[in-house]
Amino acid sequence: MKKILALAMAAAMSLSLAACGGGNGAASSKPAASNPPAASSTPSGSTGGGTQGSGFTTVEPGKLHMSTNAEFPPYEMLDDSGNPIGIDVEVAAAIAEKLGLELVVDNMGFDAALLAVQNGQSDIAMAGITVTEDRLAKMDFTDSYATGVQVVIVKEGSDVTMDNLGDYMIGTQLGTTGYIYASDTPENGGYGEDHVIGFETGAVAVQALVSGQVDAVIIDNLPAQEYVKANAANNLTLLEGTWVEEDYAIALQKGNVSLMEAVNGALNELKADGTFQNIVDKYITAG
Ligand code: ARG
Repeated sequence: MKKILALAMAAAMSLSLAACGGGNGAASSKPAASNPPAASSTPSGSTGGGTQGSGFTTVEPGKLHMSTNAEFPPYEMLDDSGNPIGIDVEVAAAIAEKLGLELVVDNMGFDAALLAVQNGQSDIAMAGITVTEDRLAKMDFTDSYATGVQVVIVKEGSDVTMDNLGDYMIGTQLGTTGYIYASDTPENGGYGEDHVIGFETGAVAVQALVSGQVDAVIIDNLPAQEYVKANAANNLTLLEGTWVEEDYAIALQKGNVSLMEAVNGALNELKADGTFQNIVDKYITAG
């Protein structure tokens, strides 16, 4: 219960922060005002001038660096040639285009992707990142662009239920909210560190479930469905119900107001003109 309240508060805070930085009218009018020159001068501006006129600077002139962990389908994953694809990657590319920048995807561990943006090594972090109070203390977030739901994967016929999870071993991806909340103390709604193993990726956590090293995996809903599908031969299933609901947003370095306005403005334009939904539909119906 507490957890859900905290998350709702975190989401409200991120919304109010965003409201300070732009407001509804500003979100669509500001970028539009500064965009035509930037958009039409994209190729010539790529030597560095492109970002100056827009009031923000980026890590590398003419580029928008996105740190991510491409282990989270359908938000980010690698295609057969090792190129990053997914909802976050395409949305970031569309944002970069609006800002007259070229997207560069920096793929790394999930914790590292969050650190990179905090330290100013990347301009944005996009990795299905849940807005939490702790993270709001370390980085800023745009408006939310998706709702994530933490669910529980078990083997078919397993005795694990939502209510007795704490009696079993739970696998999660290290550094994720699944790990953070599940390993918290029982007083805070968790199961304690002894009941949780953090794995490098969600896929490895699911392998541990298949091999019997853990009894359940707590992970975000859409990746969970992908993993269950990908492991059809191993008879995995999702427990009925949701463990916790969350908001995903794009993370930026704390205090980078001008880039925040630009990115948030572009994100809201993509939502308003249907581009965002088209990208989501492409990945969610394609599976
Ligand atoms: N939504 C969860 C969190 O923010 C999991 C995100 C994991 N993302 C990833 N690309 N591996 O903690």
